[in-house]
Amino acid sequence: MCGIVGYVGSKSACDVLLGGLKRLEYRGYDSAGIAVVESGQLGILKDKGKVRDLEQTVYATWDETFRRRVGLGIAHTRWATHGSPTAANAHPHTDQSGRLAMVHNGIIENYAALKQQLAAKGHRFLSQTDSEVLIHLIGEFYQGNLCEAVCAALKHVEGTYGIAVVSADAPEAIVVARKGSPLVIGLGENETIVASDVSAIIAHTRQVIYLDDDDVAIITRAGAEVRNAHNVPVSRAVANVDWDAGAAEKGGYEHFMLKEIFEQPDALQNSLRGRLDPAMGTAILSGLALSPRELAGIRRIVIVGCGTSLHAGMVGKYYFEELAGMPTEVEQAAEYRYRNPIIQPEDMVVAISQSGETADTLAAVREAKQKGALVVGLCNVVGSTIARETGRGIYLHAGPEIGVASTKAFTCQLAVLLMMALKLGRCRRLSRQTGIEIGDEIRTIPDLVKRVLAGNDEIVRVAQQYATARDFFFLGRGCMYPVAMEGALKLKEISYIHAEGYHAAELKHGPIALLDDQVPVLAMLNDIAGRDKMVSNVQECRARHAPTIGVVTEGDTDVVQNVDEIIRIPRCSHLTAPIPTAVALQLFSYHVARIRNCPIDQPRNLAKSVTVE
Ligand code: AGP
Repeated sequence: MCGIVGYVGSKSACDVLLGGLKRLEYRGYDSAGIAVVESGQLGILKDKGKVRDLEQTVYATWDETFRRRVGLGIAHTRWATHGSPTAANAHPHTDQSGRLAMVHNGIIENYAALKQQLAAKGHRFLSQTDSEVLIHLIGEFYQGNLCEAVCAALKHVEGTYGIAVVSADAPEAIVVARKGSPLVIGLGENETIVASDVSAIIAHTRQVIYLDDDDVAIITRAGAEVRNAHNVPVSRAVANVDWDAGAAEKGGYEHFMLKEIFEQPDALQNSLRGRLDPAMGTAILSGLALSPRELAGIRRIVIVGCGTSLHAGMVGKYYFEELAGMPTEVEQAAEYRYRNPIIQPEDMVVAISQSGETADTLAAVREAKQKGALVVGLCNVVGSTIARETGRGIYLHAGPEIGVASTKAFTCQLAVLLMMALKLGRCRRLSRQTGIEIGDEIRTIPDLVKRVLAGNDEIVRVAQQYATARDFFFLGRGCMYPVAMEGALKLKEISYIHAEGYHAAELKHGPIALLDDQVPVLAMLNDIAGRDKMVSNVQECRARHAPTIGVVTEGDTDVVQNVDEIIRIPRCSHLTAPIPTAVALQLFSYHVARIRNCPIDQPRNLAKSVTVE
């Protein structure tokens, strides 16, 4: 979750580095720092606090002449994992000599043993971090060739890293390396930039190289020389990033999250584009790289993910079982990676991850691959680790999702899962005509979402009545149960209200004891199978004086007298209903959080991508 930026070129390294850190702020952090190399000296400024604080310190410490002259440096935003947020623990860290500096994203798991060995050799450490141990180890191996020293040191390291290292003796090169934490290299005109996320690069170039695990690279103005762990040159493809810096701006909205909620019709359109085949009533998902015959040979689906992506997988289970008749299991990725899962050759493991960098999901992918499963990735970030390590999959094409709370990625995940289920179904019992009808329903999804967004003011009114709640229940049945879970997660993570998503039938087995007139209940009363049972569950809640909000299908007048407030959803198929419903709950949570003046795009304690366990 830390942010890394490195630059070498003819621009002011300070300006490029600080600008890059600002683009990475959404990832969540608690301290920031910068190191530059100039006239055989290292200049380092770092402290607890925000990038703007660092920027003020840089401008106060280094005059304009210096800042313009310096053409090489590295910078970092830290999300604390080892050691609290302090100046000493902030990156960059230096080696014992003070001539090498490094920034790091990841966890050095054997840092304690390495620290002990180095201390026995006289090394003195200034911080509590695992990262500082790594740069001291690199310094231990350094005899003038920085890349060789980095490669030699990394052979002793267990854990994950994305690092950028500079030496006061080499003002023209940066050495970078990655294992488990992403690094992207941007190739510009007589300049090269490296970052942990492409959003820090696209203001300068769209030509990028995504490093693989165990890659090491020497970066100069001329470009990047990539080597493997044995310091042998390897070639890496240059990709073109197809979205521009503007796409990562707020576009006039108060928060990235609101922008991304309202972007969903377009994002969904992009997700669906070119992927529905009206002639054969199926989906065209070339990224799966599997023939109908291979798809027909799959006997079981296992979906792994975390957080919102896990909730998407829970909806996907209903899709796969109904449309493809395939047994489908959904597992929390951390649980899956450690429980020695039983995997059969005919299993397909679907890893869902917006960032494509979530450590637990990546580990689940590696475990599934180790056991011979066919693994597919559903990611949003092109070139992300999970996308590349699964080797096949479907990109969401939702565009950059900056807000920590996932919105458009979730609805695009559902749309892609629905298309996958359609495709698999058409390799089994689903008729062409039924497939065509389902494809027609899928095509209506962007318009369904537009209609929910048009009801924003009504949702604001409802949110205003419940913004002071301290506890909330979200109830659903069938494929609306995971939607209830997701709605509760949204409210929790951006408004800090304790919200629980529950299966409606489960309430009477205990949680109903919590209900009173201070505990609102939001129930999915969509006019689909199970609605009447939902109405009964809502009546049980009202009998305990709980305020009730019903998500109801437009025109369904039978249920409105059962609730205190309603949020209307356009009439649609039970297959597509989770998507407009999720959007309504996103808006509800957003407005509650806005009314509560919460830092919506960067909620406390959260980061956009959880790249550590
Ligand atoms: C969702 O709003 C959260 N930010 C979080 O639960 C997220 O979905 C989870 O960390 C998984 O992230 P991924 O999709 O990038 O793997």
